[in-house]
Amino acid sequence: MLERLQKIISAAGITSRRASEALITNGQIAVNGIVVTELGSKADPSIDSITVDGKPLKINAERLYILLNKPTGYITALKDSQGRPLVTDLLKDVPDRVYPVGRLDYNTEGLLLLTNDGEWANRLMHPRHEIEKEYHVRVRGKVIDQQLKRMAEGVELEDGMTAPAVVNLVKSGEQNDWISVAIHEGRNRQVRRMCEAVSLSVVRLKRIRYGTLDLGTIRAGNFRYLTETEVRQLAGHSDKSDRSDKSEHFKKTTALKQSGGKASGRRK
Ligand code: URA
Repeated sequence: MLERLQKIISAAGITSRRASEALITNGQIAVNGIVVTELGSKADPSIDSITVDGKPLKINAERLYILLNKPTGYITALKDSQGRPLVTDLLKDVPDRVYPVGRLDYNTEGLLLLTNDGEWANRLMHPRHEIEKEYHVRVRGKVIDQQLKRMAEGVELEDGMTAPAVVNLVKSGEQNDWISVAIHEGRNRQVRRMCEAVSLSVVRLKRIRYGTLDLGTIRAGNFRYLTETEVRQLAGHSDKSDRSDKSEHFKKTTALKQSGGKASGRRK
C-alpha cells in the first residue's frame, strides 16, 4: 500500500514525523536508489527499497531502549565535523542504530537515554510532559543560600526566565560544594547557564535522574537496556508527572517561600 514517506519512516521508529520530514528534505532518503526530497512523496514499504543515509530502513526493527552513563569527552550528536568521540561509539554490540533522547554537553556526564523508538523519544521530550531531570553539580568554592534560592525561584537567561526548580545543597567540601538541581525544562546548557547567572562556577556536571529513572551504579562508559516496566513507566510517568511532579514541585516551592527561601537538605 502506498503511504507517505514521512509516515513510513516515523512508523519504522527511527525518529518522529517532523524529524522524518527533515530527513527527506535534507536528501537523506532514497526510494529504489533515487533520492527523494519532496515532502508528500509516497512509497510502498512492502515493495520499494527505502534507505536512510544509504542504509536500508528496517520496517519492523526491534525496539531498543538504552540507559548509558555518558562520560565527559563524548558528544551526543550522531556525527561530528571535528571528529570528536560520539556517544554511539560506546554502544558495542547494539544491533540497530539508536538516537539520543535529548542531549548532554560534551563535558556533561551521566544518564543519557538512547532509542530507535522515535515516538517514545518524542513523547519523553515533548515540553507538555515536563519530565523532571536531576543533576548533581560540583561548584567551585562555597555556595550561599541566596544563590540556591535564586536558582530555585528562576533566573533570567538570554532566552527568558527559567521555571522554578528544586535546588539543594548535597555536600560541602573544602574546595567545592555539590548541589542538586532538578528542572523540567530542557534548554541548551541550562544548568550551566543557571549557575553562571548566580555566579557559580561549574567544575563538574552529572545527570543522575531522568523522570522515574535513576542512574544507579552503572559505571561511566557502560550502558544497560531498560526493562519493559521502565520503558512503560517512563512514558506513563510523563502523564502522571504532569500532576505528581508538579504538585511535589509546588509543595517545595511554597515551602521554600514560606521558610524565607532557605533551600537546603537533600531531595528524596
Ligand atoms: N544542563 C547543562 O548545562 N548541560 C547539560 O548537558 C545538561 C543540562
